[in-house]
Amino acid sequence: MAGIVLVGAQWGDEGKGKITDLIADDMDYVVRFQGGNNAGHTVIHGGRTLKLHLIPSGIMYPHITPVIGNGCVIDPKVLLEEVDRIEADGLSTHRLQISCNAHVIMPYHKDLDGASERRLGKLEIGTTRRGIGPAYQDKSSRMGLRIQDLQDEHIFRKKVEAALVEKNDILEKIYGLPTYTVDQIADEYLEYAERIKPMIADTSQMINKALGADQWVLFEGAQGTLLDIDHGTYPFVTSSSPTAGGACTGAGVGPKAIDRVLGIAKAYITRVGSGPFPTELHDETGEMLTQIGGEFGTTTGRQRRCGWYDAVIVKYTVQVSGLTDLVLTKLDVLSELDTIKVCVAYEYEGHRYNNLPCHQTVFHHAKPIYEELPGWKTDITGCRHFEDLPKEARDYVQFIEDLAEVPVSMIAVGPSREQTIMRRWDPRP
Ligand code: GDP
Ligand code: IMO
Ligand code: MG
Repeated sequence: MAGIVLVGAQWGDEGKGKITDLIADDMDYVVRFQGGNNAGHTVIHGGRTLKLHLIPSGIMYPHITPVIGNGCVIDPKVLLEEVDRIEADGLSTHRLQISCNAHVIMPYHKDLDGASERRLGKLEIGTTRRGIGPAYQDKSSRMGLRIQDLQDEHIFRKKVEAALVEKNDILEKIYGLPTYTVDQIADEYLEYAERIKPMIADTSQMINKALGADQWVLFEGAQGTLLDIDHGTYPFVTSSSPTAGGACTGAGVGPKAIDRVLGIAKAYITRVGSGPFPTELHDETGEMLTQIGGEFGTTTGRQRRCGWYDAVIVKYTVQVSGLTDLVLTKLDVLSELDTIKVCVAYEYEGHRYNNLPCHQTVFHHAKPIYEELPGWKTDITGCRHFEDLPKEARDYVQFIEDLAEVPVSMIAVGPSREQTIMRRWDPRP
């Protein structure tokens, strides 16, 4: 067995795409196990910048089989647009495999995502409005359509018909929106089905076979730990399980398939959308991180909220995903700062919290307790070995490692592949 899980250790956009691409060379399979096109992963490879939403970040390698697992939700239109875009870029997508059990994002899911957000007004979650929540909602309520349903027109039409009885009522009577007919949806979706059919597979069986043959499988998480439906800052979360456990259910493998769990964390922290954020910066330092870090969403273009590195959150990720390694990205973005703060605990009503508080009220009002470290004020984007980093940068990484209690195995000092320090990483130990 040789399975590696890669997860976001914060609120998403940690640089998972870059790190997946970096280690994918040593893999045979790269598998997305949850989420949909709410994700936005930027990969810079061979002089190309690729923005991926659904297709696994290992797509650049001809020897890799990219898989979209059963735990994902797929908007077929977006999937095919992404396939076309990648092909137009001169890369092949013919190896792409899609689980027959993945769920399909329907047109009404997208309408309902937007309508529900508008209705919440100031209380909105700030979703990507891609229909992710409503699609997972239908999966749970056993009203969803799966990728395999696209293979049989009769079944597809029957299931759409059953769903529309409820969806049209909600669209029209609650939100005053246009309704759908079965033909309208079938005409569009069955056309997508023709192109998707050759990609459909029993991906759980495929991955288990590969693992049994000692091939290497990378399970690529989207979003981040604090966006997890169970372990995140509910209700300001996504509707799937981006934590390591999600890789088992979302790809159809057992826990013994997983040898290593990499948590990706920025050297600071960002969040898109609403919800509590104890270390958020509303000053010029926050603005500086936004500008230097290019903190604008890959999917929606929204400005990301920025704050100081929160060690309490990363310690929590180590716990809920059983991290074996931490990967620190965007260390270069901090290079202009005189001093850098790290949140080591929270304070609320006179109590100190060293761990993530269970109660949402405490987290919403938590005041960060900071330690302040000296900055290095030097360009580090050319550093390739840990020893090349200035002492202050090494001390910063060491401080984070001590707080997380797992090794910082890689450090990213720029967006491209080569701007990475492989500190304690042996891909096939
Ligand atoms: P993901 O969703 O976790 O894959 O992350 P995104 O791709 O949404 O956002 C991360 C952004 O930071 C992308 O634009 C990356 O190209 C960029 N990036 C990744 N690592 C580094 C790094 O070490 N330094 C800098 N400056 N940019 C990085
Ligand atoms: P990657 O994979 C950052 C956020 C949205 C919103 C919440 C729910 O690029 O790290 P949803 O549309 O999923 O129902 O929105 O989750 N969100 C992300 N934030 N990175 C992502 O993906 C995200 N995917 C969803 O902004 O707050
Ligand atoms: Mg992203």
